[in-house]
Order: sequence, then structure tokens, then C-alpha cells
Amino acid sequence: MDAAVIGGGVIGLAVAWRAARAGLSVAVVDPDPGSGASHFAAGMIAPVGEAEFGEEAVIAINRNSAARYPSFIAELELDGGRSAGYRQTGTLHVAIDADEQVALERQYRYRQELELPVERLTSRQTRDLEPGLSPSIRGGMLVESDHQVDPRAMVATLLQACSRLGVQIHRSRASLLVESGRAAGVSLDRGERIEASSVVLAAGCWSGAVEGVPDEDRPPARPVKGQILRLRGAPEMIARTVRGGSVYILPRGDGRVVIGGTVEERGFDTSVTAGAVYELLREARALVPDVAELELLEASAGLRPGSPDNMPMVGDSTTPGLIIATGHYRNGYLLAPATADAVASVLAGDAWPEATRPWSPSRFRRTAGVGT
Ligand code: GLY
Repeated sequence: MDAAVIGGGVIGLAVAWRAARAGLSVAVVDPDPGSGASHFAAGMIAPVGEAEFGEEAVIAINRNSAARYPSFIAELELDGGRSAGYRQTGTLHVAIDADEQVALERQYRYRQELELPVERLTSRQTRDLEPGLSPSIRGGMLVESDHQVDPRAMVATLLQACSRLGVQIHRSRASLLVESGRAAGVSLDRGERIEASSVVLAAGCWSGAVEGVPDEDRPPARPVKGQILRLRGAPEMIARTVRGGSVYILPRGDGRVVIGGTVEERGFDTSVTAGAVYELLREARALVPDVAELELLEASAGLRPGSPDNMPMVGDSTTPGLIIATGHYRNGYLLAPATADAVASVLAGDAWPEATRPWSPSRFRRTAGVGT
């Protein structure tokens, strides 16, 4: 093969599909593709709303990736023959009390200084846009350009597109094969070998534990637990993603609603706790009272792949032929197009694009003093 990808989440599958589209022969190895963080994610494509203070350096590449979405999805749906669930809905940030109003004003000013496309709304304007909001809403900030994708639809479409383009999907764990100091492929559970010119390590928060990876190339990925709820009911309840307090509410447009998400440092724990479910529902109901009428379908927890600075780790390792692509933290879906295009172009023989160079995992090797 030209490339073997360890990990069949949104990043691994997007890389495989883009590489196959560029004419490369590709294999993906994962015991259960799409069942990790990709399965639980909400799918916010929200580079403006999610921008944190001090994150100026990452906003440009995040927006760049979001801007690729329409064409990325059009090509994906063409190759996959089914909808990937991308919706251009916009996102409405709301404040429910005086403290949140002050915080929202700061968020608005920060984005204005950066010339990001945001609009400040009065309480009346906010509720005119979304009549399902609580009458207590103090005001809002509209981000027309922040959208969403349905993660489970996108993964299903990626799998279908990969299969149609001849990507081999092996349902197995993988160990990296290193021969004469360079990545030579992967070995599967039953001892089968897949020889490949390049290997992409895209196993999310498990990337640091994949067998055979030299110690100096193990990405320092850690699990960041996110509990999330899936509900069903009133299709007209809200039209846009609504964010307020520490929750977000995403309407899928067909009555399905996602409410997320906790951010917890609890190792590899995926238990769903009564306290988290209670808090998510309590906060969501304070924003949109009709949430209480919805049918609760699923309460689950996923493990986001965090890095020490919560920026992606995408780039070369010290082992020739081994590429790292993980650490996307809260932005796996958002950053899938930029990541997949960068990795696929490197697999095809190009240099890393300028925009993704800050993602190089070498920034942690330097810190640790074990390489370049
Ligand atoms: N991007 C939303 C989350 O990680 O919860």
C-alpha cells in the first residue's frame, strides 16, 4: 500500500478518503471504525464561537478548515453517495443572567477586535430569532458562519466513500512495523502484515499506546471526557445551535437534538453520571424550556484526544514514513478537512503546508529534549 492509517475515526477516515481520491492505495486499520470520540461528538463547525481568549494563532487555521467544509462535503457526498449531514444553521450565543451578559459582552468585543463576523443582539432581537428561547434571555451574539455536521452521518459517508474508492478497511487492532529505522506498515491481530510506504497514526486519545511506535514518537495524547445527550421531539423548537452557560444545544433539523458537553479530566473513564446528565438538562432547559418535553434517547460519554496545549499534533515523527495525526481535542470534525488535505498531500509527496506547521508534534519533543 502507499499508506496504512491506524485509526478509523473522522481524522483517519478523512485522511484515507482524501489520499485515495489523490490516487493512492490506502488501508485503514481499526477494531470498530467510527466508534471512538467521532461517534459521540456533537459536530460543531464553529471556529468563531469556540475561539478562546489568547487563541488568536489557531483561529485562522480553524476558520480555514471551516471554509473548506462546503466543497469537502460536496465531494464526500459525491463519492459516498449519501448525505453527510452538514447544515449551515448559524449559532446563537445567549446570556441568561447579568453575569452571563457581562461575559458575553467580553466575548463579543474580543471577536470584534479580531474582526470576526459576529453580531450583538438585544434580548428582543435574540428571541425574535429563536422564539423557543426562555423569556429570561438577556441578550445574544449571532455567529452566522458557525455551522454543524452530523458526526454519525459523516462517518458513515466517509466509510462508504472509502469503500467505493477501494480503501481497505481492516477491523483489527494494529501494531506499527518499523524496519531498518523506518515505518514499513502495520501488523494486524491475526499476524497479517500490511506493508505500506507510509503509516498515519490517527488513533485519537489511544495514539500514544499503539504497539510498535518508538517511544520518542508516542504522541502525548490524553483522553478528555465529554458527556453528551441525544434527544428527539419538536423539530421547530430551535433553528440554530444555541450556546449559553456551559452547554450547547444543536438541532439537527428533523427533531433530533444534541445537548453537550462536559469537559472532564478523568482518564479513560466513559461512565455516564447522574450529576452530569442533570446539569446538562438543567442548563439546557433554562435556555430553551421545551427541552423538558423531548424524549431522551441517549446519554453517553466520549474521549476527546487532548494534547498538552490542546492544539492538534499533525506532522512528521522522528521515524521516517510515520506521520502523526491526532490531538484535535474539541475540534475533530472542524479540523478534519484541513488535516486530511495536509496529510494526503504529504502522502502524495508534497511538503507540509505552511498553515499546519504549528501543529508539528516536534514542539513536544523539543520540550522533552528528545529529538528535533
Ligand atoms: N466541540 C464541542 C465539544 O468538544 O464538546
